[in-house]
Amino acid sequence: MAWNFDQGVDRTQSDSIKWGRYRGRDVLPLWVADMDFAVAPPIQQAIEARARHGVFGYAAVPPSLLEAASEWLKRRWDWTVPTAHLVPLPAVIPGANLAVRALELAPHLTWPTPVYDPLAQVAENLSLPATPFDITEGGTWDLASLDRAIAAGANTVLLSNPHNPIGSRFDLAQYQGLAKRVQVHGLTVISDDIHGDLLLSPGARHRPLAQQCPEIAERVITLISPGKAFNLAGLPFALAVVPCHRLRRQLKTRLRGQTPAGNVVAMAAAEAAYREGEPWLDSLLGYLHGNAQYLAEGIAAIPGVRMVMPEATYLAWLDCRALGWEKPAQVLEAHGLGLSDGSEFRAEPGFARLNFGCPRATLEAALARLAQAVASA
Ligand SMILES: Cc1ncc(COP(=O)(O)O)c(C=O)c1O
Repeated sequence: MAWNFDQGVDRTQSDSIKWGRYRGRDVLPLWVADMDFAVAPPIQQAIEARARHGVFGYAAVPPSLLEAASEWLKRRWDWTVPTAHLVPLPAVIPGANLAVRALELAPHLTWPTPVYDPLAQVAENLSLPATPFDITEGGTWDLASLDRAIAAGANTVLLSNPHNPIGSRFDLAQYQGLAKRVQVHGLTVISDDIHGDLLLSPGARHRPLAQQCPEIAERVITLISPGKAFNLAGLPFALAVVPCHRLRRQLKTRLRGQTPAGNVVAMAAAEAAYREGEPWLDSLLGYLHGNAQYLAEGIAAIPGVRMVMPEATYLAWLDCRALGWEKPAQVLEAHGLGLSDGSEFRAEPGFARLNFGCPRATLEAALARLAQAVASA
């Protein structure tokens, strides 16, 4: 079956923060990371069926949902995860905060910059010391910079894998470099793999750190969620994969009183995604790959802007340094294009992030506005 991703959904009258920011203004919103597509039909049906039941009392996480997630991880990520290792969470970012709070050693955080800001905010939320490290121009971890962070006392690594905002993946050599440091220095890693189902190359599949480097699996908490790939940000549900029994117990203790009871509609949607969403997702990935190529070709014709080709995510990292713009998103907004500025990711000046999870026609209009902004700069 084919889905028509060219057919967008009008979100202007919904409660979308993406579209609400520019309500009443002619600005195309390509910023916050959700997509302008309706969910897969089996997810829609599962939500409707659950809604029709009409009773929404306290609910346990159904074992069938954990089984569906475990089967998904096996099928898509080649990762064997017993359901007993899965800890349900209300969403990924609350999970990252709670996971850090669950650690025994006083955490000193580090993360690669540019960074998805809510990950960095964990340090501020919990008043913890932090020494970030760098991402290279090629989008990989700068392990020498990580060494300096470790020397400064960092003992807990927060990762976005694949990486938001750059869209890069990390290869086995990178994983092994990190794993060596985890072993030598006794680090803990919290790996946010929410973008792991969004690899753009046909047939490419995410391989998480804990699966590729089993020697450190007990020191890694991996956060997963159907939220990004299945466009369920407004119906959040996430899982922590915690192979270490002690860490799992600590995390579960931390969750007490801090998280709401399971959201029955979100859980129905998540299970439908993992059980029946695969054909839709594969089709979506083909469309997003086409969008990335279309965008890259369009941007190649615009002087002064360089697009870092994403290997994953529906986010394109635009390098506008050659234009001398301190805050590209500010300039572009004045030309009708609403992007996320690089400064929101603690990047050096001159970058912006464009969300291409939208119909191609929207991208076409965005490219025209980008070209016009550069021409009149
Ligand atoms: C890397 C990353 N982690 C987490 C989230 C948000 O996850 P949640 O809404 O489940 O907290 C996002 C959303 O953009 C993200 O990009």
